[in-house]
Amino acid sequence: LRVLSVASEAVPFVKTGGLADVAGALPAALAPHGIEVTTLLPGYRSVLAQLPQRRVVHAWDSLLGEPARLLAGMLGDAPLVVLDAPGLFDREGGPYVDAYGIDWNDNWRRFAALSRAAADVAGGAMVVRGKARKFDLLHAHDWQAGLAPAYLRWGMPEGSQVIPSVMTIHNMAFQGWQGAEIFPGLWLPPEAWSIDGVEYHGGVSLLKAGLVAASAITTVSPTYAQEIRTPEYGMGLQGVIAARGRAVTGILNGIDSGVWNPEVDEHLPKTFAARTLTARVANKRSLEAEFELEPGPSPRAGGPIFVVISRLTWQKGMDVLLDTVDELVRLGGRLALLGSGDPDLEAGFHAAAARHSGRVSVRIGYNEDLSHRMQGGGDVILVPSRFEPCGLTQLYGLAYGCVPVVSRTGGLADTVIDANPAALMAGVATGIQHGAVSVEGLSTALMRAIALYDQPNEWARLQRNGMACDFSWQASGKAYAELYRSLVQ
Ligand code: ADP
Ligand code: GLC
Repeated sequence: LRVLSVASEAVPFVKTGGLADVAGALPAALAPHGIEVTTLLPGYRSVLAQLPQRRVVHAWDSLLGEPARLLAGMLGDAPLVVLDAPGLFDREGGPYVDAYGIDWNDNWRRFAALSRAAADVAGGAMVVRGKARKFDLLHAHDWQAGLAPAYLRWGMPEGSQVIPSVMTIHNMAFQGWQGAEIFPGLWLPPEAWSIDGVEYHGGVSLLKAGLVAASAITTVSPTYAQEIRTPEYGMGLQGVIAARGRAVTGILNGIDSGVWNPEVDEHLPKTFAARTLTARVANKRSLEAEFELEPGPSPRAGGPIFVVISRLTWQKGMDVLLDTVDELVRLGGRLALLGSGDPDLEAGFHAAAARHSGRVSVRIGYNEDLSHRMQGGGDVILVPSRFEPCGLTQLYGLAYGCVPVVSRTGGLADTVIDANPAALMAGVATGIQHGAVSVEGLSTALMRAIALYDQPNEWARLQRNGMACDFSWQASGKAYAELYRSLVQ
């Protein structure tokens, strides 16, 4: 089976969040199931720079009005194709924002072109060794690829055979909404403009286009698949989701155990496994030093190090964490935070670090290597999200003996077993969950965490239970493979 997976980011080429981890891991996760996943990425300047050679496998005189080419490469052992459209992607800045952090105002057009290219490739436009490459299914990720299923549905030449498609929602909060005036620029036929098409509240929603047009919809955890049917989490699209009924399912993300494995992780001062947990102490000591946290007389006596590796946004509950920092310190905890995002939150955490020098330390920015050292040396990974489709940092925490303290929502609810009395008694707990994302809710969770931390045997049990969890791609790869096959028959 051949699948074309279209995303706006994928590890190791370009990453702003978990979508990149997932899109980058899918090909290897599906290969054991006899499925070849070809990934289509935009030719951002940084991506082109990573292509060793520029082998052209298709060219457009006009892709939504832009000259463009398709270049072939490899993502690990799987095929990669990159959309080289200099007018759209060859610029200084991030994938979605300019150097000042402002969204590019032609994002709709940039990603419409990506989606149009995906539909063309799915329709056989790409030529490999003199032959048109055929695909069996198209897999679109998030709003940036949302128009791809719509082009398959409404924008293919008469009489062409159209392959099925899967639309995966990694985050319902980002929908790619634009005013109606962009519709002509999408080069879709007039019949696509309807409430059963791309129209949404008088404009165009790129995500909704994918949700109505795709053969099946997935999201990244079973709980989030339920939540998005409700107004609280559906962000206006709950009706669209509900109308698709059983076409909507949740498949948990896995973690790439080639990248996230404490037994072989080269970023760690000291590697370790569940049976050699004591070796972890060296990592904690070096994390203390790196973050200039006041070391205790013994690693334990200094109190637990709570770590955060996150976008600093409302979704992630970072405002609530900021309001809870004083309490965290008062309870005897320390905080090491790595993140970037909302400037007010960045300033707020800097101020908290200044107030609590030696107890709270902040690194604003993006640092993949440091994120590994934090998971490998921290005691607790805090994820107080207001909503979380899946969440990956709690999964990395589980694998690294960095106990997750999370809000009970989406994928966090599905992956962490709360240390309530019954779970502790049964010996199955892996972390702590809290309900309300509020100062009170979070403070209570911190208190519970510290109480457990003060019982070294209980704590080691939590760590080992987490490390024994299997959140590798094995199970999820199989679930995607089954879904693909059911659609292709
Ligand atoms: P989201 O995609 O909503 O941001 P996820 O938990 O799914 O949340 O994925 C976030 C990914 O980005 C993880 O791989 C996490 O380690 C990484 N990450 C987030 N912020 C940073 C940062 N400041 N530095 C390094 N890695 C980060
Ligand atoms: C989104 C979600 C996150 C999820 C990631 C990968 O960014 O916010 O919860 O883990 O996508 O699916």
